Amino acid sequence: MGFDENFLWGAASAAHQVEGAYLEDGKVLGIWDALYEGHVVRNENAHVSADHYHHMKEDVMLMKKIGLKSYRFSISWPRVITNRGVVNQKGLDFYNQLVDELLKNGIEPLVTLYHWNLPMWSYQYGGWKNEEIVEDFAFYAKVIAEALSDRVRYFITINEPQVFIAGGYVYGIHAPFEQCPESELLISRNVMLAHGRAVQTLRQYGKQPLLIGMAPTGSGFTPIGNTPEDIEQAKMGTFSLETRSNSNIWWADPIILGVVPDVLKPAISEEDVKIICQPLDFYGFNVYNSQNYVRPNGPNQPDIYPGLPRTAMDWPITPEVLYWMPKFFYERYKLPVMITENGMANLDFVMADGEVHDPQRVDYVKRHLQNLKKAIEEGVPVLGYQYWSIMDNFEWAEGFDKRFGLIYVDYRTGERVLKDSAYAYKKIIETNGNEI
Ligand code: GAL
Repeated sequence: MGFDENFLWGAASAAHQVEGAYLEDGKVLGIWDALYEGHVVRNENAHVSADHYHHMKEDVMLMKKIGLKSYRFSISWPRVITNRGVVNQKGLDFYNQLVDELLKNGIEPLVTLYHWNLPMWSYQYGGWKNEEIVEDFAFYAKVIAEALSDRVRYFITINEPQVFIAGGYVYGIHAPFEQCPESELLISRNVMLAHGRAVQTLRQYGKQPLLIGMAPTGSGFTPIGNTPEDIEQAKMGTFSLETRSNSNIWWADPIILGVVPDVLKPAISEEDVKIICQPLDFYGFNVYNSQNYVRPNGPNQPDIYPGLPRTAMDWPITPEVLYWMPKFFYERYKLPVMITENGMANLDFVMADGEVHDPQRVDYVKRHLQNLKKAIEEGVPVLGYQYWSIMDNFEWAEGFDKRFGLIYVDYRTGERVLKDSAYAYKKIIETNGNEI
């Protein structure tokens, strides 16, 4: 027993990070397009980025070459809805063509509605701080359901609320670059309501039965040893509320279980829960590492030692996270799991032989998949694995230095080169994960 024959071997991206074409065919500005100045390394922006908007067919061809079974991408809200209630058909056309191209090549599209580039027209009335956003988001979900759900079955409402809220409104390192921790409860409520209304709307206007989930992230803790106490400690860390809106259960308990943690109760009513808690089809989550190992004396003692393996983001490499997190999440939420993002940034460049050798990434992917396989063998249903990212892209405040892609992008020319890891992933997919 191992990976299911329908396992979704995939890779992921997000509109703002890859598309470019930031004002083309009627697209309006989003917060990352308009407010980035002074907040990104070397003031880089994603106006052109990997220019996926113009390289779409070539990129799908490369996905096919890698053998992907699925591709997770996001829709740019400011590309398709250019003001309250105003639909931009040309923007929709791009996603229609992308979906057609994917299906023609046997690749299942997984569509994310919100991956952080809030339209400026919404930001101007307060964006996530104003409850009006909930119905604007529902309208957007309706437009997308009507346009794409005859061909798209998988939808993800919102990507990593943990990160865009902490980053955007607490630490001020992500758009809209604010520091207003006092808005945390208000924003959390609006995001949860938007999620709930989007699920209702997708189901209502979906042209076929849809499979809907979310793509949260949050600290995952892995046990230091294998004793029941170690495992219990790790679970406690994973399901702790210590980091508030940055934690797992702040979101997943109300959204999936309909249980509101005490700290959220001043903001969320029982009426709200009826909207927020909609049946979901899978527990999607983005996971890059377990932030801390757990010591018997508490979850906050990191096992950091000199020379700990790290990625170019400085993130520790802890492959066992892909064994423990699926187990923990399945146990608590009883939904099939989907790894909606996992991957690493590396110091990739085109080498003298014209190729991009990235043995660290090959090793990273293999070891994470071996752990995922172990979780599957122990009974955790896992629908798929979406490597982050299909191609190098704009890594938010880090700009372009941090390369996560399976495909190398030369940002000067738009030229693409498959990295060694793309070929290694291809082989894994060919054996359906039997040979990792
Ligand atoms: C996630 C995010 C992605 C990507 C990745 C690597 O938090 O969803 O957009 O940037 O991290 O940092």
